[in-house]
Amino acid sequence: MKKILIIGCGAMGGAILSGCLAKGLWNKEDVYVKEHSEEASKAKAARYGVHASTDGSEAKEADLVLIAVKPNVVPEVLHEISRYQPSRVLSIAAAVTLESLENGLPKDTEVIRVMPNTPASVGEGMAAIAPGAKASLSFIREAEAVFSALGREAVVTERQLDELGALSGAGPGYAFVIIDALADAGVLIGLPRKLAIEAAAQTLYGAAKMVLETGKHPDELRDQVTSPGGTTIAGIYAMEQKGLRGALMDGVKACLDKSDQMAGK
Ligand SMILES: NC(=O)c1ccc[n+]([C@@H]2O[C@H](COP(=O)([O-])OP(=O)(O)OC[C@H]3O[C@@H](n4cnc5c(N)ncnc54)[C@H](OP(=O)(O)O)[C@@H]3O)[C@@H](O)[C@H]2O)c1
Repeated sequence: MKKILIIGCGAMGGAILSGCLAKGLWNKEDVYVKEHSEEASKAKAARYGVHASTDGSEAKEADLVLIAVKPNVVPEVLHEISRYQPSRVLSIAAAVTLESLENGLPKDTEVIRVMPNTPASVGEGMAAIAPGAKASLSFIREAEAVFSALGREAVVTERQLDELGALSGAGPGYAFVIIDALADAGVLIGLPRKLAIEAAAQTLYGAAKMVLETGKHPDELRDQVTSPGGTTIAGIYAMEQKGLRGALMDGVKACLDKSDQMAGK
């Protein structure tokens, strides 16, 4: 079986680890976790029932090194593991480019950059996978296996990864606001808060599932629920009057602009 080293096992590293263990993609005895101190590594390893790494030296033998630290810690981690000549490195750090990952690692290292999102923690993630110039097909397939175990994935260019960062990466944030706003609307018209939240969340979840499972364009599905002169079209009209579509489009574009600005583009 493959040996895996995870550097940084916080929210996202932990979600990937739990998902891969739950789906049987990885075995506990093959996984090593490295945090910023030996004590922290041991605590995280105990939480997931895997091994703790003290110095990251497992990178030498590992078939996969997953970097899941905050972006500002990545240069330090690249420096730390380079001495072990890792063969395959996958980074999920936002805004850390393939170029900077490749420049920070030995020249033969295969590199892949991934933009996941937090619903990966409940098996409903959406991940963008951008392979570096030296990434082999088998490494790309391995990355796809990991992220399809946590939801959906797509292999894309690095630019598309940035664009998907503004859509699906940040998307759970937008979705939580939309669910909260719909629940507020429910309370406004008289529903109890708990029921309104459940109804709003389940409705978006169900509608999303219909789009994904039928393969139909959302416009076609919306047509099916808007009878002429009916109540739903009256609701949509009022929302469009307030610029619902434009607000969402502006929001995604603002997110990408901010990410480009932070990356110095
Ligand atoms: N969360 C998301 O929605 C999301 C989505 C897409 C991409 N990402 C990317 O995923 C990465 C991790 O984000 P996160 O939300 O999982 O952050 P997080 O919960 O803070 O996890 C980072 C982990 O790395 C540990 N760490 C800090 N310094 C370290 C070092 N030198 N060596 C090893 N481990 C170290 C942290 O320990 P301490 O807490 O003790 O410092 C923590 O356990 C980020 O680069 C982020 O851009 C996150």
